Amino acid sequence: MDRPVRIAFVGCGSVMSGPYTNLARRLRERGEVELVAACDVKPDRAAFVRSELGIERFTTDYTEVINADDVDAVLVLTSMPEHGPITRAALEAGKHVLVEKPMAVTLPEAQDLLALAARSPGHLVCAPHVVLSPTYQAIWRHIQRGDIGPIHLARARYGWSGPWWGQWFYQSGGGPLFDLGVYNLTTLTGLIGPARRVTAMAGTAIPERKVDGELMRVEVEDNFQITVDFGDARFGTVTTGFSMQAYRGPAVELYGGTGTIQMMGDDWAPEGYELWRNDHGAWEIHRDQDPHWPWTDGLRHLVDCIRHDREPLIRPEHAYHVLEIMIKAIESAREGRTLTIDSTFTPPTFDTGTEAADAHLVHDPSH
Ligand SMILES: NC(=O)c1ccc[n+]([C@@H]2O[C@H](COP(=O)([O-])OP(=O)(O)OC[C@H]3O[C@@H](n4cnc5c(N)ncnc54)[C@H](O)[C@@H]3O)[C@@H](O)[C@H]2O)c1
Repeated sequence: MDRPVRIAFVGCGSVMSGPYTNLARRLRERGEVELVAACDVKPDRAAFVRSELGIERFTTDYTEVINADDVDAVLVLTSMPEHGPITRAALEAGKHVLVEKPMAVTLPEAQDLLALAARSPGHLVCAPHVVLSPTYQAIWRHIQRGDIGPIHLARARYGWSGPWWGQWFYQSGGGPLFDLGVYNLTTLTGLIGPARRVTAMAGTAIPERKVDGELMRVEVEDNFQITVDFGDARFGTVTTGFSMQAYRGPAVELYGGTGTIQMMGDDWAPEGYELWRNDHGAWEIHRDQDPHWPWTDGLRHLVDCIRHDREPLIRPEHAYHVLEIMIKAIESAREGRTLTIDSTFTPPTFDTGTEAADAHLVHDPSH
């Protein structure tokens, strides 16, 4: 495509008005996108998109933007229960779609999206976009080169005290697993491979919250401890909740037969990684190769794939697999049993590179 990709936003709330707006502006400055239309069920969002992005075309009916002839790609940035139906309609209209996580809130809806994406002309890119981060890819390369040996155990965590906006975060189809744990599960399955079984404990730690200025009952589990079986005696845990105030430990820890690698920061905002190799006998501290990497990077990637006619690295089968783990983790916790994961996927691969190209040690004077 030798013209800018024409983008429409559906859902103009918190995530659209900050992080996606910033990246969309940068892509527009580079001549890669045109921002042509926006939709939100709240009519007052029209003023924001006009003043901040210069988008004049605003509607409260998403079918208007997804059926518009002058829209190439739709960004679905709504509350979670709306992701599935809007993504489906946009794919059916032949558009490229970026959908925030999770791709849908039920497996049948997500299965439909997979089938539709396979036969639709548009790409389907599902958040989270963690596999695009330079730190994730550096860790992937160390694993591929055998630097820590075969992975035996893993731990990941992501949580915070929870949003004070959007009551839907605490209602059916919301919750911290879909919102936060999804990053950890995408990272672990991307680096280790597909999961075979899941078992979880979950509960509602904080049953009442003030959200959008109103006291509300929390209808979903807000506190999770999940164990994932990757087969061949390989196990991972994910700790997530709207129940965590602060932390300083690694986001992800991977324990291999000859070493350990751990991602610092959060997997949606990595701060480099630390590597132990038995044969080196010391911790190597690698800073982040791009501290400005934005977690919205899937938008740049989608635009790049459309303009250069490439298949996205972020695959809907991966998002579906993670959704199955999440839904079965919730079921497992409610029923008190371990559940089998039926789906599988092929993790994304990258250029394996060289040790030297990866050497971004903090004490390296050339950086
Ligand atoms: N807030 C964050 O920090 C963050 C970070 C990463 C990803 N996300 C994801 O982004 C998505 C949105 O989160 P948010 O925090 O922006 O939520 P939000 O509640 O602030 O915004 C969602 C917006 O979608 C609109 N909406 C709902 N149904 C709609 C429909 N049918 N048509 C058009 N608009 C509709 C709402 O009116 C609202 O303005 C979620 O999937 C969330 O998990 C959020």
